[in-house]
Amino acid sequence: MIDEAAREKALKRAGYNIFGLNSDEVYIDLLTDSGTGAMSQDQWSGMMVGDESYAGARSFHRLSDTVQDIFGFKHFVPTHQGRAAENILCAVILKEGQYVPSNMHFDTTEGNIRARGGRPVNLVCKEAYQTSSDIPFKGNMDLEKLENFIQEVGPENIPLGMITITNNAGGGQPVSLENLRAVSKIYKSYKIPFFIDACRYAENAYFIKTREPGYENKSTLEIAREIFAQADGATMSAKKDAIVNIGGFLAVNDPVLFEKIKNECILREGFITYGGLAGRDLDAIAIGLREGLQEPYLAYRLGQTSYLVSGLKEIGIPVIEPAGGHAVYINAGELLPQIPQEEFPGQALSVEMYREGAIRTVELGSVAFGFPDPDTGEMIYPTLDLVRLALPRRTYTQSHLDYVIQVLGKIYENRENLSGYRIVKAPVLLRHFSAIFEPI
Ligand code: F0G
Repeated sequence: MIDEAAREKALKRAGYNIFGLNSDEVYIDLLTDSGTGAMSQDQWSGMMVGDESYAGARSFHRLSDTVQDIFGFKHFVPTHQGRAAENILCAVILKEGQYVPSNMHFDTTEGNIRARGGRPVNLVCKEAYQTSSDIPFKGNMDLEKLENFIQEVGPENIPLGMITITNNAGGGQPVSLENLRAVSKIYKSYKIPFFIDACRYAENAYFIKTREPGYENKSTLEIAREIFAQADGATMSAKKDAIVNIGGFLAVNDPVLFEKIKNECILREGFITYGGLAGRDLDAIAIGLREGLQEPYLAYRLGQTSYLVSGLKEIGIPVIEPAGGHAVYINAGELLPQIPQEEFPGQALSVEMYREGAIRTVELGSVAFGFPDPDTGEMIYPTLDLVRLALPRRTYTQSHLDYVIQVLGKIYENRENLSGYRIVKAPVLLRHFSAIFEPI
């Protein structure tokens, strides 16, 4: 760990944006669970037999068999990561001015929809905003809102409907199978194709197994199959529940749509049997997709977030409850009530965690999700200002988590002395990645 003076210097250089820090300046890196997990010996040995043929490689067929077995969609293309799948999907299905409802879109999904002139809409259940209630499926779609929304704008203006499992933008909370079935029924009744953002499908499946009545004796594989049987397609970032450092895919049932996807994939990613990846990457994904579903691993994985939530609650830090799958979310707005939304309480906490303990986290609040209204230009801020502590898979131990709790304990004692930030410079889309801040 670099010393306090060096950390302060690094913060200044980075424009108080933790994305601008270098990894050797960071002690515990909870920036993301994306691509940061530790691959297993089976994945590494799988990479050694990767087939690097340009077309029709054995590696592709191994991945194809696995995708078919777990997800069951008729067609798929590999992509270099999740947002590439989103880009291809938006390119082939979305026209300017059209709407895409979801429980909550992640920022890259929102960005890809907006980049094509579309309008992402979040219709998550109201319980998602009750941060300290023990409701089991706070990622669920609000079915009434969904139905009303479709009738209000007309199904002809909705080229696809989505749902994110687990709901990353809303605390990593899961969606129940009951809700997925109901969402699927609504979309079907209006002939709207239904796509699942599947990044954390295995964690969601394990939540269903442990929380939804009737699923306790089903395997996570059986639950995953039932989840995807509800949908017409999926976008996947394999950097999450497939525990690889890079990769993703886009899967669909519709052969006509798949023709368009193939063309777009070849244009942007690469030939349809490698899609922007090396053959060896495809093997690592195929093996990781199965490892990610292993129940003892998932018990350890969700045990870590739950341990961190209990530890933080004990010292008075407001966190989203129950614990999410991949991350713990601190309610920075509640912890730092003296900092208004336009001065970014989440940013202030995230900077302070680095300053105090060289811990890197990410703001998911007014910086990440604040955007100007397309009609009025007025800034719209999200309901919650959160800081996410994402846990890389198979990487940190309980001692690391104890250290994080200790650092937050010190910040808690000093919370009344913290102040906010202003943005000096930022791009319009996805501004949290590169905005430059200064302390107020
Ligand atoms: N969808 C969700 C729900 C995600 O969490 C992410 C990425 C993506 C799509 C895009 O996938 O990164 O492979 O292009 N989330 C990362 C995160 C970046 O830190 O939560 P990608």
